[in-house]
Amino acid sequence: MPASVAPDSQDVARVLASGAAVVSARGITKEFPGVVAVDNLSLSIAPGEILALLGQNGAGKSTFIQILAGVHRGYRGEIALDGKPYQPASVAEAEAAGVALVPQEVNVAPDLTVAENMYLNAEPTRFGFLDRPLLLARARRVLEGFGLAVDPAAAMGSLDLSTQQLVIIARALSKNARLLILDEPTAALTEAEARRLFERMRTLTRRGVAIVFVTHRLPEVFAVSDRIVIMRDGRICGSYATTEVSRDTVVAQMVGGVRTPIALGEQKPGAVALEAKDLTVADPADPTRLRVDRVSLQAAHGEILGLFGLLGAGCIEAALALYGAWPGKVSGRIALDGRDVTIANPTMAVAHGMGLMAQDRRDCLLLEHTVLDNALLASLGAITHRGFLDVGAGQRRAQEFVRLLDIKTPSIETLVGTLSGGNQQKVQVARWLIADARILILIDPTRGVDVGARAEIKRVWSDLRADGRAIVIASTDAEELVDVCDRVLVFRRGAIAGELLRADLSEETLLRMATDV
Ligand SMILES: Nc1ncnc2c1ncn2[C@@H]1O[C@H](COP(=O)(O)OP(=O)(O)OP(=O)(O)O)[C@@H](O)[C@H]1O
Ligand SMILES: [Mg+2]
Repeated sequence: MPASVAPDSQDVARVLASGAAVVSARGITKEFPGVVAVDNLSLSIAPGEILALLGQNGAGKSTFIQILAGVHRGYRGEIALDGKPYQPASVAEAEAAGVALVPQEVNVAPDLTVAENMYLNAEPTRFGFLDRPLLLARARRVLEGFGLAVDPAAAMGSLDLSTQQLVIIARALSKNARLLILDEPTAALTEAEARRLFERMRTLTRRGVAIVFVTHRLPEVFAVSDRIVIMRDGRICGSYATTEVSRDTVVAQMVGGVRTPIALGEQKPGAVALEAKDLTVADPADPTRLRVDRVSLQAAHGEILGLFGLLGAGCIEAALALYGAWPGKVSGRIALDGRDVTIANPTMAVAHGMGLMAQDRRDCLLLEHTVLDNALLASLGAITHRGFLDVGAGQRRAQEFVRLLDIKTPSIETLVGTLSGGNQQKVQVARWLIADARILILIDPTRGVDVGARAEIKRVWSDLRADGRAIVIASTDAEELVDVCDRVLVFRRGAIAGELLRADLSEETLLRMATDV
């Protein structure tokens, strides 16, 4: 069959039945100093198949799919693409061969335009010059085709993280790939965007495209995948047809045992810790556009308050503004423990006993520093005695959380930049669990964190809550909020559309309130 002809679905069924694979990897092994990231792994993927690749943080998922996508060269084993030997020397070579990757952390050039970011390294040229009109037109077509209302001439840095991710996904989906690889594509997306992505994925598989996607969100695994493959310690420890396996089995395979969900104890919230009145947050690029419009809210001591909304609804903007971390204009009043305060920047927020965990971990983590340094960054005061740092106490705290959250790292002296995405996130979580902040503002705190560690993190939040801290969680993950919140404020188009108490919380109600229907 000529490569340019898309097979119809009957063809796909036939190829699937015949067992021909789009990609077939045999005996893949990849080592990093001190770790075997992928250990003698073999896997084949059929045309039209959506394969969900699961496993705990550090299991080797990203490393394996990066090998398929030409990111790593130094590995052992063989790969065949459409039956022919395949050994890409670079990402560009893999793309040319029909393998497209959306990486776990999308790296963008914030000062370049959206269109330039979409076609970096592959800009259309005319007589050797960059053909700008063509570039913009092409980008516009792809964005519109994906239903994204983004101006291709806007600076990439002016978009929020989720929109940036959608742009990169739209680009990858627009390529005529045979194998599409998505590494946690929905981590920063809300359910509505994720659903739209899944519809797109289905359309592609009907043309015979094979898709591998990595995620830690189990509901979507069952909603969209055909096959589930679970990795542990660089190896495959389970492979199932999605319709033939239960969620419990998958979780047990991943964590090697079953864990009980946490139950928040009965507790009356205390006095108001944080109050915002008429909080108004303007778009950084266009101050006349209000991202949050006169929102008032309160969070009490001993309360976990959730802020939920679809992309651009204002909940993340509000969370950043409360902490003085929003890049645009902010107005309104903020009071802590009943006293009006000015929080113009994060340093002032910290001085007032607030802690913030931002959405993009690269903003917060010092990747060139050790796990120990990063974990203790927010609590240096607490481990300092008479002006001296208690090094031993700091190390013990860090070790304790490495164990508790099961952070996969050779030691606490390892550089954070060499950890897997989810383990980096765990280090950030550990920092705010160790910190003595009275008010915690967390944005998508368990993004990319595996199921086992999520349970531990929730347990610690529950302790902090019992200790009278106020915790505000702005999240795109409805399931996470339903699990831990005493109360959730649902944002819609920059205003609060409703409030749900713990007893009335469900993912469905949250989503219904967040959308207009
Ligand atoms: N560049 C690197 N240098 C050193 N070690 C690395 C590097 N990249 C990955 N590792 C290590 O390889 C192992 C597997 O990491 P990988 O990123 O593949 O995990 P993952 O399954 O994708 O996890 P996550 O769910 O957290 O993204 C981890 O122990 C990680 O620390
Ligand atoms: Mg990964």
